[in-house]
Amino acid sequence: MSDEPIVQMAGITKDFTGVRALESVDFTLRPGEIHAIMGENGAGKSTLIKVLTGVHAPDAGRILLDGEPVRFHSPGQAQAAGISTVYQEVNLTDNLSVAENLFAGREPRLGPFINFRAMRRKASALLDQIGIDLNVAAPLSSYSIAMQQLVAIARAVDFEAKVLILDEPTSSLDRDEVEVLMRVMRKLAGDGVAMVFISHFLDQVYEVCDRMTVLRNGKLVGDWDTDALPENELIGHMLGREVETLEAIEHRPDRWPPGDAAPLVSAEGLGRRGSIAPFDLDVREGEVVGLAGLLGSGRTETARLIAGADRHDSGSLSLDGSKLRGHNPRTAAARGIGFCPENRKTEGLVPDLSVAENIVLAMQAARGWARTIPPARRDKLVAEFIAKLDIRPADPHLPVKNLSGGNQQKVLLARWMLLQPRLLILDEPTRGIDVGAKADIQRLVNELSDDGMAVMFISAELDEVTRLSDRIAVLRDREMIDILGAESEMTTERIVDTIVAKGGEQ
Ligand SMILES: Nc1ncnc2c1ncn2[C@@H]1O[C@H](COP(=O)(O)OP(=O)(O)OP(=O)(O)O)[C@@H](O)[C@H]1O
Ligand SMILES: [Mg+2]
Repeated sequence: MSDEPIVQMAGITKDFTGVRALESVDFTLRPGEIHAIMGENGAGKSTLIKVLTGVHAPDAGRILLDGEPVRFHSPGQAQAAGISTVYQEVNLTDNLSVAENLFAGREPRLGPFINFRAMRRKASALLDQIGIDLNVAAPLSSYSIAMQQLVAIARAVDFEAKVLILDEPTSSLDRDEVEVLMRVMRKLAGDGVAMVFISHFLDQVYEVCDRMTVLRNGKLVGDWDTDALPENELIGHMLGREVETLEAIEHRPDRWPPGDAAPLVSAEGLGRRGSIAPFDLDVREGEVVGLAGLLGSGRTETARLIAGADRHDSGSLSLDGSKLRGHNPRTAAARGIGFCPENRKTEGLVPDLSVAENIVLAMQAARGWARTIPPARRDKLVAEFIAKLDIRPADPHLPVKNLSGGNQQKVLLARWMLLQPRLLILDEPTRGIDVGAKADIQRLVNELSDDGMAVMFISAELDEVTRLSDRIAVLRDREMIDILGAESEMTTERIVDTIVAKGGEQ
């Protein structure tokens, strides 16, 4: 590894209308190193990357690549110079095949025609090289978001990147996929590629990164070798304050188990062919039911049936003991079942509407569009939730697309909490959210359920599920295989054992 930096950014300042996203930030990246950029939601991580890659022009500062001053005007220019980026949200084309996505814009040709056979061969070789196994002729949309993410990375790698930037690539990957990605990253580092890694998973950062640069409120806090910066100090630098450790947030450890009230929502043999096998599940008022399982195990599918987002083709769903007919998202919301989906970009937010408009959207829909919410009431509610969830910047008028990824997630949560549903279904609510905000959301789930709201909580992070849930439904291969409820069962090990044991039976 050479010590000459491949990238040097100095004095970078970037203003958006009304917001200083970066203020005189320095950043240095060396060949062959994996370098984390750390900071809270809205700290300026993605903006720093976007300034480097020509998405945004800096208002001040200098960028050197290999010692030469550069100024890119588009990500394409940066890519041509050897800086490839995989963004927080995957940017590939769903309906094209894996191979077409890998070689879009540079397809191998035979005269005027695309040589599909050569393209598929090259695609297989490329994926092989980084150790993932996909059918390259299949449409990309037939794979999970996780796999799509790995395809995006393979595409970036193939551009002979000198610098590879990964902005939250792991937020939708399961453990095995994260392992694959890390293996790929280490291999690339060994080949001399410099990498920038942005992630809110501290364990991953500690596992794979050599150095860290910490930003807070758009300013540089400092940079450290990973070995020299223990986790509690890192968190202190990121937040500028001490936080209660997440382990301390637990769902009413003192008065457990929950009472045996009549179920609020009750699924009997509820299922949908090809999506989730029939299951029975009750959720009581004030109870938090966690859904645990690997990616693709059927967690989201279970939630979607209960929320009416998908139609069930077997069994029934009851509310307060009476069977529901004509269950769809609108009737569900009207009956007090709120569903905060996983994919904020396609199922949730309207990017051009303001934070306030996005927050009141579901409430407005529930009232009917003819009855607008009185402005004073609306402003008060919006202000209350901006404060409660610490949405930043705390400006209700900003278009939601101008918020950082994590803050967008909070807007979506606010929308559903505002409706005060009787059952709130949260699909990966803490994904892409920094440690401070994660603690806020976990605490909020506890508060809401203490006030009597029933909550279904989906998370890939098992420790979060075990800490917050009263009971845990474990899923595997699109089947609910067990419901854990005794205190002794509510552990990460027990969930993993349950999933593994079921695999052994088959
Ligand atoms: N296009 C834009 N227009 C206006 N403001 C923006 C724009 N992009 C980002 N910002 C603001 O700049 C600040 C930094 O945002 P950035 O996206 O860099 O944060 P981040 O550190 O990547 O956060 P996260 O962890 O949530 O992804 C935020 O206050 C954000 O609202
Ligand atoms: Mg970001």
